[in-house]
Amino acid sequence: MSNRNILITGGAGFIGSHVVRLFVNKYKDDRIINLDKLTYAGNLKNLTDIENEPNYKFVKGDIQDKAFLADVFEKEQITDVIHLAAESHVDRSISGPMEFIITNIVGTANLLEVARSKWTDDNHVFYHISTDEVYGSLGEEGFFTEETSYDPRSPYSASKASSDHLVRAYFHTYKLPVKLSNCSNNYGSHQFPEKLIPLMINNIKNNKPLPIYGTGENVRDWLWVEDHARAIDVIFHKGEIGETYNIGGWNEWTNIDLVNKLCEIMDEKLGRASGTSAQLITYVKDRAGHDMRYAIDATKIKNELGWVPSLEFEEGLDKTVDWYLDNEEWINNVTSGDYQKYYSEHYS
Ligand code: NAD
Ligand code: DAU
Repeated sequence: MSNRNILITGGAGFIGSHVVRLFVNKYKDDRIINLDKLTYAGNLKNLTDIENEPNYKFVKGDIQDKAFLADVFEKEQITDVIHLAAESHVDRSISGPMEFIITNIVGTANLLEVARSKWTDDNHVFYHISTDEVYGSLGEEGFFTEETSYDPRSPYSASKASSDHLVRAYFHTYKLPVKLSNCSNNYGSHQFPEKLIPLMINNIKNNKPLPIYGTGENVRDWLWVEDHARAIDVIFHKGEIGETYNIGGWNEWTNIDLVNKLCEIMDEKLGRASGTSAQLITYVKDRAGHDMRYAIDATKIKNELGWVPSLEFEEGLDKTVDWYLDNEEWINNVTSGDYQKYYSEHYS
């Protein structure tokens, strides 16, 4: 596959910016068109290092607008789609589900419809990026595989599950050449500080309380965002049409152990006495319908496509903390204004 015009939606967000960077730098014969609405989570400062590359173009726009999408497909002669644009934060989906339903379900349907109407042969890929949350919640044992039944439990995960079903329906009904992947929790640079890891790093730095939902015993399977971007590259180029791949880190942590680990790392980096930051830990009201445990079995992508995570978690956390400490201006920009309102409403 070369000389492609690849539309990446949501490329100004956390994961999207890592995917755009990888594709722009690695595939010089392809054109990468980044389409993003620039919601509170989208930030062009995530991409300043590649914004002037000749094979990169940014288009501001909303996947809720089908006519606009059709226009972009026509003007840019789009050959492939990697679809990441979404409302992505579970807590926001609980306080306001409609934006999730419209962007994640209707927005995905718009993209599918435009691809179906513009693509007349098989020489295309519509790659939909999804989440392990569609599978629901695990008990102490077991893993999510590609065969696990869907059981989404938050408005966010239900909207992502709906979009996954639509993508598969377009494959079965219209033979649209689709691929899907469902990934576990990502961490790394440029993540908006409403999500656990950057929120805790920012609060530790500023000596603010560290809000742990419920008992802190909920488990997440953490993956370095650049490893997710590498998996997306491998699936886009080598994955089978019509197939789904689970992506995970084989790296389960309870929230409380993870936050304690971050406190240790930051005590050392900030020159604080050991145990100082952990005193900021505060147990708060649990998230409504809080899923207990997520854990991915990534055997299929490992065996079929040769992908495995590259980075040990402690090294990844260390790099992540360094990035946030070194990028004070980035964090100050995104935590001013609306973030303060969100934070005080959500954590009051
Ligand atoms: P994010 O919230 O950081 O970024 C989402 C991006 O989509 C932003 O740039 C935003 O401006 C854009 N966007 C939102 N609504 C849009 C619209 N209507 N039209 C165009 N652009 C719009 O999200 P993220 O964490 O980078 O997640 C990206 C994708 O990966 C999502 O589909 C998410 O479901 C999926 N995912 C995320 C994780 C994770 O741990 N963060 C794990 C698995 C899958
Ligand atoms: O599993 C993949 C999913 O991971 C993605 O699809 C989502 O887009 C992404 O946001 C993430 O969802 P989570 O809800 O797991 O991530 P979050 O960082 O919001 O929370 C991680 C865990 O930490 C979860 O158990 C809730 C808990 N938590 C979170 C916050 C923000 C707290 O205890 N306190 C907090 O303040």
